[in-house]
Amino acid sequence: IKVTYVAQDGTATTIEAEEGTSVMQAAVSNDLDGIVGECGGSMMCATCHCYVDEAWAERTGERSSDEEEMLEGAADEVTERSRLSCQIRLQPGLDGLVVHLPEEQL
Ligand code: FES
Repeated sequence: IKVTYVAQDGTATTIEAEEGTSVMQAAVSNDLDGIVGECGGSMMCATCHCYVDEAWAERTGERSSDEEEMLEGAADEVTERSRLSCQIRLQPGLDGLVVHLPEEQL
């Protein structure tokens, strides 16, 4: 399942990952700059903040209230498209997903 990460300067990186992997894990295991994932995906950090591309917003679903709370601690601006990338699991319906990376995570 492919995910494309677009950095603030427009650089796009596409990573192919197994179904069930989170958008954070896929980035971290490929050493992608821009996603830190300090807590390893347990919703305790907000260093995996990303902005889901508009075209995909509906398919990635809603953020939970815990996720919402943790996002308050994100280093960069939080918008309605902000998500914790560790909370987005790759599934066939998300093949081709595009997320945008924030300027900073820490
Ligand atoms: Fe820490 Fe997502 S990796 S909240």
